[in-house]
Amino acid sequence: MMDKVLLITGAARGIGAATALLAAQRGYAVVVNYHRQRAAAEAVVAAIHAGGGRALAVAADVSDEVDVLRLFAESEQAFGPLTALVNNAGILETQMRLDEMSLGRWQRVLATNVIGPLLCCREAVKRMSTRHGGHGGAVVNVSSAAARLGSAGEYVDYAASKGALDTLTIGLAREVAAEGIRVNAVRPGFIYTGMHADGGEPGRVDRVKSMVPMQRGGQAQEVAEAILWLLSDAASFSTGSFIDVAGGR
Ligand code: NAI
Repeated sequence: MMDKVLLITGAARGIGAATALLAAQRGYAVVVNYHRQRAAAEAVVAAIHAGGGRALAVAADVSDEVDVLRLFAESEQAFGPLTALVNNAGILETQMRLDEMSLGRWQRVLATNVIGPLLCCREAVKRMSTRHGGHGGAVVNVSSAAARLGSAGEYVDYAASKGALDTLTIGLAREVAAEGIRVNAVRPGFIYTGMHADGGEPGRVDRVKSMVPMQRGGQAQEVAEAILWLLSDAASFSTGSFIDVAGGR
């Protein structure tokens, strides 16, 4: 059997780091991509090594084509053919109305949240597709409940980027379904990670959790479980589908 090799973007902390740790426990060799957060990424790799797993930290900005090409090359060099990709890297910026937002902000958000997954999907398909001599594989995109809800008054631009990611998931799934590749997505709700501080409100999850039918925020680990299921052979007939991990919201 082929080695299971997983590349996760933005895996230095939060949902990406939780997914990296769980994947290593499930027998994947894990490429821990990071952008700037080198020490945190190395700590994730060290934790995987301590558990007897295989992992490598690779710096790359997912919105930079040259970086992404190097990321995939280094992954292959270290662990052989890629079998799984998680497009997890994503950003949002300070909460504000759309009529206050700048063009520069939109370019940053869309570059990381949409161009990044497009670039990584392209490189993954080139390697995994049976059409190109590959052995198939699985992709999971980390979208958001925001794609359904729109994030009014907070970050409509971010929500729109996740809507694009959902549509990419559906289209690519159908495009490569007969080539051995499954493409699915998770849509987390309010999850306790460092991302909310980047939006200007570190305590956001606790403020809004009463809007969640389950009356609580989620943990990164709970999202990682859904991602690992979608990547696994247990999900062998699922493609172009979505798992909401949002406490009923
Ligand atoms: P986080 O901010 O802890 O993790 C995101 C990671 O992506 C960071 O480590 C960051 O350095 C990295 N990153 C940012 N730009 C990058 C780039 N250009 N290239 C490579 N890496 C880059 O946040 P969290 O919450 O773990 O987010 C992970 C994913 O989950 C994101 O796509 C986010 O939109 C999504 N999500 C998070 C929710 C939450 O409530 N925390 C809810 C719904 C979706």
